[in-house]
Amino acid sequence: MTIIYAHRGSNGQCPENTMAAFKQALKEGADGIELDVHLTKDGVPVIIHDETVDRTSNGNGFVKDYTLNSIKQLSMGSWKSHQYRAETIPTLEEFLEWVASTSLLINIELKNNIFAYKGMEKVVLNMVTERGLLKRTVFSSFNHESLYKIHLLNTDAETAPLLAKPLPISPMDYCRELGARGIHPHYRSVNSPLISELHANHLSIRPYTVNLPHFMRLLMEWNSDALITDYPWMAANLKKQLKQS
Ligand code: G3P
Ligand code: MG
Repeated sequence: MTIIYAHRGSNGQCPENTMAAFKQALKEGADGIELDVHLTKDGVPVIIHDETVDRTSNGNGFVKDYTLNSIKQLSMGSWKSHQYRAETIPTLEEFLEWVASTSLLINIELKNNIFAYKGMEKVVLNMVTERGLLKRTVFSSFNHESLYKIHLLNTDAETAPLLAKPLPISPMDYCRELGARGIHPHYRSVNSPLISELHANHLSIRPYTVNLPHFMRLLMEWNSDALITDYPWMAANLKKQLKQS
């Protein structure tokens, strides 16, 4: 059955990439969480989508220019609703501590395609390994060189390149070159033969960001390994219906 990853947590209901969004995703029936990681000025992995805090906080400026202590002063929820004003930026460590107490799968997206964040791969990989969560984690990124670094650091770490349209001529060859075990493509570039071919090559596919029930259903029928969605509740309901039919 297709695994449901909540994109930035329950992005449809809560402020993205907050502990509230992650906890809500679990309540809504997600099987896993997708989240985005940057590094602070003092090298701490924190969970936020953009390079700056402008869109999703009450502050402004680049994440890389904030120390952990100063970025923690910002509200990451007040932009969405007063109800979430107490949400602060989660550190990866905080998230891992919580997720370890659940059976959720983890998709850590390294947001190092604009700023390289020197040493990020090692810090993030060590954190996941030390918590004993490596088997539950897949590392993705638009920075494929960075994924190759992770593979070289530990060949047990599962990586999957994020691919905006169009796909490489042979996603299979591309994965082999990178040491990746699957791909995370844009959902509009996926079709049934592609999924079959990946599976025949023991590779996984987890398309993003699938928010329309029509495409959720297609991917489930095509046996996609997973899908990444802002609406985990919608995908979970659909999955239940398909199981019963
Ligand atoms: O990991 C899937 C998806 O999150 C990639 O795009 O911009 O939402 O991080 P973005
Ligand atoms: Mg992402």
